[in-house]
This record gives sequence, structure tokens and C-alpha cells, in this order.
Amino acid sequence: MKKSGDLFYPSTEVKKRAWLKSRAIYKQAEANPQKMWATLALELDWIKKWRKVYVGTPPHFSWFAGAKSNITINCLDRHLKLRKNKVALIWEPENPAEPKRILTYYDLYRDVSRLAGALKKMGVKKGDRVGIYLPMIPEVVVSMLACARIGAVHSVVFSAFSSNALQVRLQDSQAKLLITADGYYRRGKVIELKKGADDGLDGTAVKKVIVVKRAGNQVPWNEGRDFWYHDVTKDEADSIGAQPMDSEDPLFILYTSGSTGKPKGCVHVCGGYMVQAYATDKWIFDINDEDIFWSTADIGWVTGHTYSCYGPLLNGATFLIFEGLPDWPNTDRWAQVIDKYGVTTFYTAPTVIRMFMKTGTDSLKPYRLNTLQVIASVGEPISEKAWLWYFNEIGKGKCPLLDTWWQTETGGIIVTSLAGLGPFKPAFTGLPFPGVRVRIVDDDGKECKAGKEGNLVLLPPFTPSLLRGIYNNEKKYLDTYWSAYNNKMYFSGDLGYKDKNGLIRVVGRADDQIKVAGHRLTTGEMESALAKNLSVAECAIVGVADDIKGEVPVVFVVSKSDIPADQLKADVIRIIREEIGPIASPKEVFIVKDLPKTRSGKIMRRLLRKTLSKEEMGDLSTLANPESVQQIQDTVQGSGPEQKS
Ligand code: PRX
Repeated sequence: MKKSGDLFYPSTEVKKRAWLKSRAIYKQAEANPQKMWATLALELDWIKKWRKVYVGTPPHFSWFAGAKSNITINCLDRHLKLRKNKVALIWEPENPAEPKRILTYYDLYRDVSRLAGALKKMGVKKGDRVGIYLPMIPEVVVSMLACARIGAVHSVVFSAFSSNALQVRLQDSQAKLLITADGYYRRGKVIELKKGADDGLDGTAVKKVIVVKRAGNQVPWNEGRDFWYHDVTKDEADSIGAQPMDSEDPLFILYTSGSTGKPKGCVHVCGGYMVQAYATDKWIFDINDEDIFWSTADIGWVTGHTYSCYGPLLNGATFLIFEGLPDWPNTDRWAQVIDKYGVTTFYTAPTVIRMFMKTGTDSLKPYRLNTLQVIASVGEPISEKAWLWYFNEIGKGKCPLLDTWWQTETGGIIVTSLAGLGPFKPAFTGLPFPGVRVRIVDDDGKECKAGKEGNLVLLPPFTPSLLRGIYNNEKKYLDTYWSAYNNKMYFSGDLGYKDKNGLIRVVGRADDQIKVAGHRLTTGEMESALAKNLSVAECAIVGVADDIKGEVPVVFVVSKSDIPADQLKADVIRIIREEIGPIASPKEVFIVKDLPKTRSGKIMRRLLRKTLSKEEMGDLSTLANPESVQQIQDTVQGSGPEQKS
């Protein structure tokens, strides 16, 4: 049983299957990152080789300049020689009684060619934007690849986003065609996706809509604009040539939330993204031919793009996509799926891990989970307690646990320990990926000493898959990422520190930090202290204005036991004082039933702040649990009973 503070190294068995056997790679790559990336890039097929590996002056730069490629050649054509009938994709439907679908590399190649042919006939050309608003079904992967095949730029919008959210994104990207579905299943009910898509098309440039038949529900139909997927693809050729793409041609746009509420369209390019998706999937997860890779993220998020589509395909691996939720029809569904397919590599988010923790280990008893070789986490800081639980209970103390830090903007994983090399340390993400110069710096750009918190930045030559811009918004690109350090460093917006071994711990967003009487405190760290020491299912801490101290923390906790409210509040205050210091003592502790979350599971601390300042909440439609906001408002204003469990 691993404990807090332990360092863990991979076993001999894990090391045996590792692509990287020696830590020497770190030194070599630091000395010459371009050389390392070029060596990796040479493992892929190119139509024309690059003139220069990296050129430019930040914030504008190019990787593999002058080269031509097409990512689908490396995802599909290359494998037809070696693994034509190998399973590329396994699809597990939401309803466990419905049959799974299996697509081999050849199946995928054919489906992609047919849809690519149809898109061309419908007038889609290189550089055009295509919106994709699809649930987790194989056609979402086919659609992304079909766009890439002909050089169209895909922009996937998370299918659980509202029509309003879809509309804003389609307007911004000026997509001319949308691929969607009739409906899909969520907790046993049909979600009418096509209806939602129709509402989102008002005021956009979309002229044609391709509709995948998934749920078989009745859909509104706009003759001349709407086309069934099976109709447009049925007479298309099984094989279509790939459009040669310059390395810096855009591959996709993916929207992420911005500080002002309007989403930012992160632009990713063909060459650099391809190399990074390939290399990170290979070296970090030690992906091998016999692996079954399952990343639970929806394809509407960057994790889905890179590790539920491009990364595994570039490596010729088998990956799983799942239409449903990890806790439906029962909380053990995810464990069932792991055992059913013999998943070897399981990649999920702390919010899911916390949900598993809450339901406890009893529900796991029927499952062996013995095929797992690597487990991983992404998306937010993972507390020590969650880390140890995941490592001991799911990984059975033998699987490397990779805490991977990255962002929509970076396109691929940037900080993590490598499965085959370690070390793994609870609540630490690990070392920067070889060849990526990650630093923790103060506001003047000076590197912080071990243990001192600062801004997480990337130094030139950055990383091949770093975003190249915000679509149609150069100013936002410069202001958000480059102005803090005068174009010399990419600023991630995150805070972290290094331990004495150089392992990085990311503690939260720079914009989540609070200053209490001049002391910089990070709410993420306090949350971690509470999660470690208390029987709470979840907690979130935000700063509120205080006349004397500037800001003070306010704590929201979701209790998982029936400990009396007064005692829980006293415990929260005691633990924070003990773990962080009296300066961090919370002004208030609210015990609530649920915390407001996005559908990807992120806690919306901004809304918590608004409940305290009694501001207008604004649009709550993109939340997974909008009802939680009213409950919290009632609790904060004293009109609602405090939840005891
Ligand atoms: O704050 C960091 C947090 O998630 C942000 C990026 O979110 P997004 O663009 O949605 O991409 C999520 C999936 C890559 C980061 O700026 N974050 C991501 N991974 C971690 C993390 N925070 C702490 N630890 C992580 N492993």
C-alpha cells in the first residue's frame, strides 16, 4: 500500500514493455529539442520532408516548415500494410444490451474515404471549416478523419453543449457544413440532438447538414439542406487520395472557455500536432500493439481529440470509445467495461476518480481490473488522497499512475512522468515531456526555486503542437498567452511549483489564486488539504473581498458522511489552519449538496463567487447540474437547510 510522500518507480515488467529505457533522453532532448522531435517525426510518413524543424520568432513560429503530409496517411494508409484487419476502434454503446461495434483499420479507411468523397461532392474544399456535433459513436472519429483527409478544418462541438453554445462556435468558425446525428442515449433516454442542432444553425454560414442515424428518433427535416449520412456515403469510393497539407496548415479548431465568457477557437496545425500526438501517446503511455487504450473523455474536448482519435491511430493501436457515462446504469459500469474488453490503459479525470471513491470499493469486488497496465489522470489537480486511492484500489499498486498536465492550447501532454521511467509521486504531475522547456517563473520571468510557487510557462522552441493562434482573434492570442512575458514565453495561466527533484505540481489556475493579507494562497492547495484529511466527497474554495485582508477564502463542501454540520465546519477550519496556516482560515464554510459543474466535470468556481457576491448568474445552460446553483444560493442566503450528507 503506497502512502503519502512515497516515490514510486515502474516494475521490471512495466519497464520491459517501455519504449524509453533510459533517463538519458531528458538530457539529450534538453540539449537539442529540435533533434529529438525530428527523430520522432521521421518515424512517420511524409509526402515531402521539412526544410527546418523549428523557425520563427514567438509568438509566431513553425514546426517542420516546408514539409507536406496528411495526418490520415499516418493514421490509416500506413497501417494497411501491417495491420489491415487489426481492430482500430471498439465502440461500447450506452445500453450494455446493445451490440458493440468494431472497426478494423481497413473498415475505418473505407468509411473515412467514403465520407471524404461525399464531403467533396457537397462542395467542401481545403481550408473550409466543418462543424461536428456528434455523440461518442464511431462516426465522430470517421468525420474528423474525413475532414483531415481532404484538408477541411474540423471544429468539434461537445454534443452535450446547448444549441446556443453550438451557434456561437459555428458563427465564430464560419463553418459551411455540419455533421450531426438524429439523437443519442443519455441515462437511457434519447437526447434529440438534431433538434438542438437545427436551433443552433440560425445566423450561421452552414448550408448543408449531414445526419447520422443513431437513435432512430423522428427528426425535423429541411429538404435540400439536410442529408442522411448513409445516403451520401453509400455510392462513394472505398479509397480516396489524401490532400497534401503544409505543416502549418490548420488541422482543427477547438473552442475552450475564455476569461470573458466568449469561447476561444484554438487553432492547431497539421505537422506539429501529428508528431506530438504520435510521440506523446507512444512514450507516455507506452502504447504497444496489443494494448486496449481507453480515454474516457468525450471527443468534444482536447483529450478526446488527441487520445481518443489521433494518438492511438497514429500508433496503430486499438482504442475504445464509450457512448455512455461511467456511472450508468450503475456506478460500476466503467469497471465492467474495463473487464469486458481487457482495457490495458485507462485515462480519466479526477472528477471521475472522486466519484469512484465516493461509491467506495465494495462495488468493485466483482471486477478483476487485472488487465490494467497504465492508469492516468488529466484535467485538474488530483489530490493526494484521490491519487493514492486510484493507485492502490484501481491500479492495485502495480500500475504506473500518470498525472498528465496539458491544455486545449498545448494539443498534447506537456508534463507527466513517463510510464516506463517514473518516478510517480502522489499529487505531482512529474517532469516535462522530453524536449519541452517548462519553467516555473515569477512575475518578472525569473525561475522560482524548488518549492516556490510561480507561473507555469513554456520556453522556445515550445512544443510542436502548441496552438498557433485564436481563430480570427490575434489580439486575444497575444494578450492571453504572450503579453505577460513580452512574447518570450508562453504563459499557460497555471500556477505550480517544482520539488527538489524537478517534479512539477500544478496547483491551479493563476486566476483562481487569492491574496489574503498580502499572502498568495492557492485555493487548489487548500482543497487538496481538505480532501486529504476529511470525509468530504468534494470541495471548492473561492476568494471573497474583505475590507481588511483584501480577500478571504470561503469553503463549499459536499459531505459524504453524516457528520454534524457544526463539527464538519470546525474540522474544515482546523485543517486549513493546520495545513496551510492561520492566514488561510476560511471566513465561511457552506455545506452543500452538489457543486456546479460543467459537463466535463470542472467545478465552476466563478459561479460560487457569484453566489457570494449575489451577482446575476447569467446563462447556466452549459452546466451539468444547473439546479445546484439555486440550492447553493439558498444555503448562502440562509433560506435553505444545510445539507448534512
Ligand atoms: O488548469 C489546468 C488544468 O486544466 C487546464 C486545461 O484545461 P483544458 O484546456 O480543458 O484541457 C484539459 C485537458 C488537457 C489547465 O490549464 N489541468 C489540466 N491537467 C491538469 C490540470 N491541472 C492540474 N493537473 C493536471 N494534470
